[in-house]
Amino acid sequence: MKQKESSKEDNILFVGIDLGTSRSSISASNDTREWVESYVGWPRDFISLQVVGKPVLFGAEALKNRLSLDLCRPLEHGVIKEGIEKSEEAVKEIIKYLIDLAKPESGQKIYAVVGVPADTLKVNKLAIRKAVAEFVHSLMVVSEPFAVAYGMNLLNNALVIDIGAGTTDFCIMHGTIPAEEDQKTILNAGDDIDEKLFSYLTEKYPNSRFNKNMVRQFKEQYSFVRETPGDIRVEIPVDGKPVMHDIKNEIRRACENILPAIVETTTEMIARFDPEFQVKIKNNIVLSGGGSLIRGIREYVQDSLKEYGSCSVTCVEDPLFAGSNGALKLAEDMPAKYWEPL
Ligand SMILES: Nc1ncnc2c1ncn2[C@@H]1O[C@H](COP(=O)(O)OP(=O)(O)OP(=O)(O)O)[C@@H](O)[C@H]1O
Ligand SMILES: [Mg+2]
Repeated sequence: MKQKESSKEDNILFVGIDLGTSRSSISASNDTREWVESYVGWPRDFISLQVVGKPVLFGAEALKNRLSLDLCRPLEHGVIKEGIEKSEEAVKEIIKYLIDLAKPESGQKIYAVVGVPADTLKVNKLAIRKAVAEFVHSLMVVSEPFAVAYGMNLLNNALVIDIGAGTTDFCIMHGTIPAEEDQKTILNAGDDIDEKLFSYLTEKYPNSRFNKNMVRQFKEQYSFVRETPGDIRVEIPVDGKPVMHDIKNEIRRACENILPAIVETTTEMIARFDPEFQVKIKNNIVLSGGGSLIRGIREYVQDSLKEYGSCSVTCVEDPLFAGSNGALKLAEDMPAKYWEPL
């Protein structure tokens, strides 16, 4: 019997959690979908506690109050910074917060599938088990792109490329639960684009005042590769006065910067299969994660891979919830023996 069918009588809430560097999301079997930016902040002292009025803050609210807080982004590069108590504590707070947002009924048992970046699965499994032990009854930790693949029913001859903030994760599906060699993580992703864009803009406009947060917003609004019609101009203060700045070239360069590594890793991973499977996988490549929203990225990847024969690349419809929806579907379908009781 599938877990799903037993959930009502056993009073179980299934949840899929996508633990991301920049955003974390939850999808639950009671149809809740919620997300939060992966920032946690604690008031620095008793004055800050009075100012912010809460013992712990999350996401955008934490960022807004950052001057009063000890701020932690616990999953930089997709790994819980092991041994650093604060970041373990922060992961725990994020998971607790997400589960609260999913509104479990009192007494309901929680079965969670948590998606984490592919390469770091082993390290993270331990840290995550510690972080969720208090409020989850059963757990399974899977790689993020595997969760995306499962959610989209891409179980055979497919490659998922999840372009996140801290990492880009690859996972090849060939009809079984993916093994270690079917998955790979590289650090060329959204944060990397932000850093490049920040440095290109600093170089071009040394007298203008902007910070990393503004730069990320410019990117999220205007990201593109290759060509896009029209100008890209943003308002940035110079000597206290708002001035329009042309940032089109810099946006393109920063976004294109992550692509060679992505194309190269894709080619390497596919090359391990025999030619018959290579063709099938190449015609079933799916981009997910916030980076899949970059305009022109699908065409760029597809054309780069076409050099060596036919190829088809598509993007997931809902990059924000593709991971957690897939994790939820896994939770609902998974036979009992795969669950790890806590
Ligand atoms: N329209 C957009 N164009 C380009 N990048 C975008 C866009 N929207 C969001 N992003 C970027 O996508 C990244 C967030 O994506 P996502 O939520 O998939 O990552 P994550 O899961 O938090 O990170 P990771 O998977 O690395 O742990 C951020 O770098 C964000 O700036
Ligand atoms: Mg992610």
